Amino acid sequence: SQNIYILGIESSCDDTAASVMHNGRILSNIVANQKIHEEYGGVVPELASRAHQQNIVPVVAQALKKANITKDQLHAIAFTRGPGLMGSLLVGTSFAKSLAYGLDIPLIDVNHMQGHILAHFIDEDGFEKPPFPFLAMTISGGHTQIVMVDNYFDMTVIGETIDDAVGEAFDKSGKILGLGYPAGPEIDKRAKLGNPKAFKFTKPKVDGLNFSFSGLKTAILYFIQNETKANPNFIEENLNDICASIQYTIIGILIDKLKLASKQTGIKHIAIGGGVSANSGIRQALKDGEQKFGWTTYVPKFEFTTDNAAMIAIVGHLKYLDGEFAEQNVAASARLKI
Ligand code: KG4
Ligand code: ZN
Repeated sequence: SQNIYILGIESSCDDTAASVMHNGRILSNIVANQKIHEEYGGVVPELASRAHQQNIVPVVAQALKKANITKDQLHAIAFTRGPGLMGSLLVGTSFAKSLAYGLDIPLIDVNHMQGHILAHFIDEDGFEKPPFPFLAMTISGGHTQIVMVDNYFDMTVIGETIDDAVGEAFDKSGKILGLGYPAGPEIDKRAKLGNPKAFKFTKPKVDGLNFSFSGLKTAILYFIQNETKANPNFIEENLNDICASIQYTIIGILIDKLKLASKQTGIKHIAIGGGVSANSGIRQALKDGEQKFGWTTYVPKFEFTTDNAAMIAIVGHLKYLDGEFAEQNVAASARLKI
């Protein structure tokens, strides 16, 4: 039928999310953020799974209500199978299975990383869909990946981080500077007011298209320790410049790898996703890349970049059209690959 309603469910990390999609358009996109982790300066897996357990039914109910449909109108349930935190994935997986079983409709397993990429194919006014083949760079608190996308379900990871994710580089730098968690948005705000060339941090040397961010974090730590020894007020007096310099270094690393990926593959269509794609510096650098390197760049609507269930629903929709369904004995997988 051409009247397809898909429920998407996402619970891979610390956000409990549900979304209803109708023929590729989003009718609702509900996310319950777990504030509890802010106190700890990072996601605490045990607390995350408990919060998912509490949030999942209300979030799904809200998504259905906002979409103005009942659960009996759904054609399939799509859920995040992985990658992510096992305790978190189990909540969404078990709930999705039970609901699909109860309603006697197909169950569709979704790879979270494919979700970030295929979010570009949600029908949304004012947003263009990238043509195949394109390069997708997913940058968030949990992931840093460059993927060559030849078709919806024909994609190859050509580069990824060998240690920390880029969002962690922002968040851990922020922690060193005494900023709250997550620090990315605050660093972005301050970077706009500072001099990006005030302080120089060496970029890590990593072969090919892979990334490394743990060395940068250590370099920043030693730099700050050293400077505050000489001047205890160093951070307060230079905070905007420090933030601008850190952000400049991180963006330089990302753009260098994108340039190399584009050169190696000959692909000039570049799509980004993940929470860090909100960063104003990376957005500007991509725009500059359009002028400098002839790229065409794609940034999805903000609500589809951070972890959300709309991106799970669009993958569900595409798989539904292909008749790609999961068995009821499908298991969540913390390290699921693209
Ligand atoms: O996708 P997301 O909401 O959650 C996952 O990690 O999956 O991404 C959150 C990450 C955090 O590390 C946060 O600091 C970073 O995205 N972030 C930013 C900005 N907004 C969010 N980093 C830099 N600049 C921003 N404007
Ligand atoms: Zn994610």
